[in-house]
Amino acid sequence: MSPLVRRAAVVFAAGAALLSGFAVHGGAQAQERAADASASVAAEAATLREAAAAHGKFVGTAVADGRLGNSTYTGIAGSQFSSVTAENVMKWESIEPSRGSFSFAAGDRLVDFAQSHDQQVWGHTLVWHSQLPDWVRNGGFSPAVLTQVMNNHITTVMDHYEGDVAYWDVVNEAFNEDGSLRSSVFSDTLGQGFIAEAFRTARAADPNAKLCINDYNTEGLGAKSNGLYNLVSSLLSQGVPIDCVGFQSHFILDSIPSSLQANMQRFADLGLELVITELDIRITLPADSSELQRQGQQFASVTNTCLALDACKGVTVWGFGDADSWVPGVFDGQGAACLYDNNYQAKPAFDAMLTALGGTPGGGDPDPDPGDPPGDCRATYTVTNRWNAGSVVQVSIVTDSALSGWSVTFSLPSGRITSGWNAAYAQSGTSVTATNVSYNGSVGAGGTLSFGFQTDSGAQYATPTVSLNGEACSA
Ligand code: XIL
Repeated sequence: MSPLVRRAAVVFAAGAALLSGFAVHGGAQAQERAADASASVAAEAATLREAAAAHGKFVGTAVADGRLGNSTYTGIAGSQFSSVTAENVMKWESIEPSRGSFSFAAGDRLVDFAQSHDQQVWGHTLVWHSQLPDWVRNGGFSPAVLTQVMNNHITTVMDHYEGDVAYWDVVNEAFNEDGSLRSSVFSDTLGQGFIAEAFRTARAADPNAKLCINDYNTEGLGAKSNGLYNLVSSLLSQGVPIDCVGFQSHFILDSIPSSLQANMQRFADLGLELVITELDIRITLPADSSELQRQGQQFASVTNTCLALDACKGVTVWGFGDADSWVPGVFDGQGAACLYDNNYQAKPAFDAMLTALGGTPGGGDPDPDPGDPPGDCRATYTVTNRWNAGSVVQVSIVTDSALSGWSVTFSLPSGRITSGWNAAYAQSGTSVTATNVSYNGSVGAGGTLSFGFQTDSGAQYATPTVSLNGEACSA
């Protein structure tokens, strides 16, 4: 990551008014403040993230690294969601494919994306039996060495992302369906104690990250959620640092557990934060229109459950487009599990989830298609001063739609930014990304945002195209 981006992260961390995971300490206050300020915004909110922010909640998506070059994909990911989870690139096999050799480039790309879209990053996942490289799974390590291997993985990864990742799934999918501990190299070698060990190590590595245990088929009351509940209760009574429970929520149409809220409530009563971490609702293909309508009602009902519980901090969907969903590859004949269809057109599920959050599909946005990045913008790019080895530039943009965080991109064919004001800057080669700072991320519909900077080049160049949140503005 470039030093400029790192610096931007520090600016964010200092600005607790941002609805973002960088402001971990200020997150709760920021969300409350946002909730006060945006009660009226919710009525017109056309995006999931704005509507959720009015309740002090986040709405997230898993992001596939391979799609970050697709502007339709990034337009939706950046505008609709306030939290992103790495779908694969922070898993053990990706990040430490061989012992002691770490590969952070893809995870860093997601962090960069999140920072330029004012988003929280959810880290997924540190200790899991799956997508685990053979060198760990079949390493034949003694308990002492496996403990060292696990702790080194947790510590190195969390150190690298310290300040950038707000929540970590520390332990993923530790249970069998009957509530007993799942067999894995970790439980087989270390017993149940690997879980407490992992959480203690994680807390020491990044004391500000929220530490979660995440699982599936634990959403309703039942044997598996009882196993999770008993374990978490006992960890808490031993003082093990665990902050939250993630309910994956890979649901089947018409099978949302009726005890979802009652089950989440008992975990809330332990004082934990709760998050719906991987929501999708799969349908036997082909899906007909009545199934898509029911799917919408069920996305809304899960969203309403989160809204009903103070302890529930957000809902993350496991990918937003059917084209990218893991479902068809894993569940034979099933699919259509997401908010958008194979062509990134919003489905009834999108409208239903937005409506459940108090937003209005198409509202507050002159563009009736919520899948499109919002409205138009007009940019003025003015070189206000130029000398032989420097120039000063002022950029102003009028936006037709309300913004809760912005990121402006343009290219600077010559020179580098040496200082700037009213934005955090990242420059990579000729590409510049200017991101709002804590005090100027919210811009009303029809409002203006402006920022400026100085460069070390006096060369003349044509006025560049300026894009706001991924959409080119007119000059
Ligand atoms: C899935 C990804 O979506 C796929 O791309 C990958 O091939 C397998 O893993 N529970 C989890 C996620 O915790 O990490 C899984 O993600 C889905 C189930």
